[in-house]
Amino acid sequence: MKLIKYVMILLNGGVPIAFAGTEEPAAYGELISIGGLGPSVNGKLSSTIAEILETKLYIDSSRFYIKFYDVQRSFFGFNGSTF
Ligand SMILES: *[C@@H]1O[C@H](CO)[C@@H](O)[C@H](O)[C@H]1NC(C)=O
Repeated sequence: MKLIKYVMILLNGGVPIAFAGTEEPAAYGELISIGGLGPSVNGKLSSTIAEILETKLYIDSSRFYIKFYDVQRSFFGFNGSTF
């Protein structure tokens, strides 16, 4: 179970993006987690996030990349140390 107090969301709008040769709405995301990621979970997250982007921001899911990173605790810094 993930604790919301460790969840960070950064949205950076207004950044010019060219995707598939056009400047129609597009998005790029990175999702970093200490464990818990894998083919099935990543697929579900990609689907859920694509749906949010589509309904809220009118970004077609074919114009959206998301990169998943599963990092070791000691490779993730927080609060002056690492997890
Ligand atoms: C951050 O580190 C300080 C000092 O080690 C500790 O007292 C505090 O509980 C830590 N905060 C969190 C949110 O882990």
